[in-house]
Amino acid sequence: MEFSTKNISPGKQRSGCVVVGIYEGRKLSPSAQAIDSASRRHLSEVLRRGDLEGKLGSTLLLQKVRGALAERVLLVGLGREREFREGAYRTAVNAAIKTLRNTGAADATFCLAELAVKGRDIGWKIEQAVTCITEAMYRFDRLKSKAPEAKRALRKVTLHVAERGEVAAAESALERAQAIAEGVQLAKDLGNLPGNYCTPTYLAEQAQELGKRHGIRVEVLEQKDIEKLGMGCFLAVARGSRQPPKFIVLEYQGGKRGAPPVALVGKGITFDTGGISIKPAPEMDEMKFDMCGAASVLGAMKAAALMKLPLNIVGAIPATENMPGGNAIKPGDIVTTMSGQTVEILNTDAEGRLILCDALTYVEKFKPAAVVDIATLTGAMVISLGHIATGMFSNSDPLARELLQAGETAWDRAWHMPLWDEYQDMLKSNFADFPNIGTRAGGSITAACFLSRFTKSYPWAHLDIAGTAWRSGPDKGATGRPVALLAQFLARRAGAAA
Ligand code: BES
Ligand code: MN
Ligand code: ZN
Repeated sequence: MEFSTKNISPGKQRSGCVVVGIYEGRKLSPSAQAIDSASRRHLSEVLRRGDLEGKLGSTLLLQKVRGALAERVLLVGLGREREFREGAYRTAVNAAIKTLRNTGAADATFCLAELAVKGRDIGWKIEQAVTCITEAMYRFDRLKSKAPEAKRALRKVTLHVAERGEVAAAESALERAQAIAEGVQLAKDLGNLPGNYCTPTYLAEQAQELGKRHGIRVEVLEQKDIEKLGMGCFLAVARGSRQPPKFIVLEYQGGKRGAPPVALVGKGITFDTGGISIKPAPEMDEMKFDMCGAASVLGAMKAAALMKLPLNIVGAIPATENMPGGNAIKPGDIVTTMSGQTVEILNTDAEGRLILCDALTYVEKFKPAAVVDIATLTGAMVISLGHIATGMFSNSDPLARELLQAGETAWDRAWHMPLWDEYQDMLKSNFADFPNIGTRAGGSITAACFLSRFTKSYPWAHLDIAGTAWRSGPDKGATGRPVALLAQFLARRAGAAA
């Protein structure tokens, strides 16, 4: 999709379709008014006849509106003006693009960024419009034998900017948004690719490709290197698989040489069968998404590189399958982590924490300013927060606040979960330092507690994206979350550091 911004009157805009908003109670937005006057009150007439009430998310496509230079005019319901906030803005943009992509319009002009959203400026509105539109136009059809439908007509979107004084801010927001959208798209593509394509080796190749294109240093550690480092837990998970494990390390040097980096650590289980503690068959296919944490690290680093952020960033991805097999780890096995602590593996399906703990120890060597791990870690997270918020745990309140705010701004929101000492009691073993699972109660918190035992030397946060990284059902597919949150977080860090 090609995007641009423009500051001219919507009535004078030549375009395949111009998109304008209507509030409930037939109240016209400023651009709708402009078209209304240009068309000698055609829109008012349509509304008077009751063809559109202005309900949030409703749409009405008008052809050949006399006096308007656009071929079509798309009216979008905005709901009540008083209740028009972030969510409503996004709903309106989404409704418009969903109608538009089924028309023959090759280009469209969106006049929605002029709508007042409390506390949000033009930059926010442009950024959200771009990410919503790219999201709606996304398809994953590379594994279909025939092109499933004719290429979509819509190629170009112009974002109308009402005030001349806002054009510069809109332009820079547009660039930022496109960088983020590319990162989100990469994360989705990797997430959607099934386990027989997206192996640890494939992830490593994709990281190397990304490195070449964007000047990011990439190192891939092989089985023997991982053994030398003493990553006993990571190797324990990899034992059951025929696919060789990879430990992928990326270094983006946008900041001053030697400045402490932000480290992103992503869970890269390219397929999670559960291992010997095997999962039930229904929906097991969705465990191809168990590398979405890894994908979000690559996506966020791509976005950071495209934005040329003046910040040093390290990415660390332990990648392996979790399979049963003659050589696989068994419940009760005890392994030694890179940190020296021993773990009794009571359930081989709690494998994410086992690969992450060694990666979290590994990144200590970078003396990071902050470490954020991203993982589809627990089914219990889906039960607690559903599919709206990512669960966030942290040993540092300032870091937690930064991430929550980044999520609010990106509208890729996270919720602060507790990590109190009392929860640590759930992890007790008679035979090793601690087990890899606790009781069923508070399963996401136990998992975070497990990780916290490897992150004592730096400010750290853990994002459990089990409920937000993909959608099930008819819209099954990776969401690209939380790339937008991470990109926003990194951008702010870079701003603070500049
Ligand atoms: N990858 C899963 C978590 C998961 C499950 C994400 C379902 C999304 C939907 C993880 O490796 C796992 O299997 N976790 C177990 C942990 C349990 C054995 C303590 C879980 O959540 O059931
Ligand atoms: Mn598992
Ligand atoms: Zn898993």
